[in-house]
Amino acid sequence: MSKFKSAIEKFTKLSMFVSEFSRDMALYIRYCGVSPLQDPTKKRYYKLLIEAHALEKGLSLKDPRPLFGKAKITFLMRELERYDLSYSPFPAQMVLGVFDTYLRNHRERGIVAPLLDELEAYLSRMTSTANVVPNGGLRHFDTAYQFDSISPNVFLASRFSNRVMSQESVSLDLISAAVKVAQSAPSQCNRQAAQAHFYQQPAKISELLALQGGAGGFAQEVGNLFVVSCDLAAWGGAQQRNQLYVDGALFSMALIYALHAAGIATCPLNLAVRNTQEKRIKAAAGIPQDQRLIMMIAVGTPIGDGGFKAAASPRRDTAEMLHIHA
Ligand SMILES: Cc1cc2nc3c(=O)[nH]c(=O)nc-3n(C[C@H](O)[C@H](O)[C@H](O)COP(=O)(O)O)c2cc1C
Repeated sequence: MSKFKSAIEKFTKLSMFVSEFSRDMALYIRYCGVSPLQDPTKKRYYKLLIEAHALEKGLSLKDPRPLFGKAKITFLMRELERYDLSYSPFPAQMVLGVFDTYLRNHRERGIVAPLLDELEAYLSRMTSTANVVPNGGLRHFDTAYQFDSISPNVFLASRFSNRVMSQESVSLDLISAAVKVAQSAPSQCNRQAAQAHFYQQPAKISELLALQGGAGGFAQEVGNLFVVSCDLAAWGGAQQRNQLYVDGALFSMALIYALHAAGIATCPLNLAVRNTQEKRIKAAAGIPQDQRLIMMIAVGTPIGDGGFKAAASPRRDTAEMLHIHA
């Protein structure tokens, strides 16, 4: 190949990177949840789910702080009033469900506060006028992590993010066996670029969780932590720019199920961080800079005092997610 032809090819490849990443940026700016150009009802739908779930998470902790999340409650009350219920009743069900659980949880503990009276009045008005059946708050399991003679579908549906776990170290044999099972995850062209980094030193875990920032309320109870990453060197060409997240997420899901099958509690933890923060996390975790971070997974022996509790995380109606184009 002539030098000229090779230079042209290199330039075309480079300009493709610039154009594809720029188009990603344009698409994100145009349609993401903070874009003024996105449908306000659709944005409000997701915002309500996200904020209602934040309250559920608070309730799912071992000892929820009395009257936690006041600002979120006020926000949810206001936003639900503005939400168009004809789009989907699901966010309203979830918000009212978590409000109901929050109220009962506080009343049972004998807590008295104007916020609770306000919440009670709001709930009664919304359930009667908007005719919404609450669905959310907490899930309770009498038993969990017992899989003898259950069907595969029941096993799959039995996984949940557990934020109540013991800090004791999980055996490295079990961890290694779970990673081996997770390796059964599919990967593009079988490149298997996902990497599982595992930590058990309390100081290191505290440092990493402080940088992650999403394990508030239970970070101090995490004694075992994965950071899943993916090797950049496995990918090339502008068209593959996002594929490492697909492979990394599939591997993470398989790892979570493998741990669940072994009776171990897991909670995925987002790594939705800016580049500077990702760099800091990689430095603290001893992860090479040529890997990208997928997620953290808190891991531990589940603690259940006569049963387990978890955020309800109710699911959308299947019809909202399945679009048959037959
Ligand atoms: C990529 C990802 C990131 C998550 N990040 C967090 C997090 O930072 N903190 C947390 O408490 N839960 C986190 N979760 C757990 C979700 O809240 C949970 O999966 C969702 O509510 C569904 O509930 P379930 O896992 O119990 O079925 C995350 C889940 C995923 C998949």
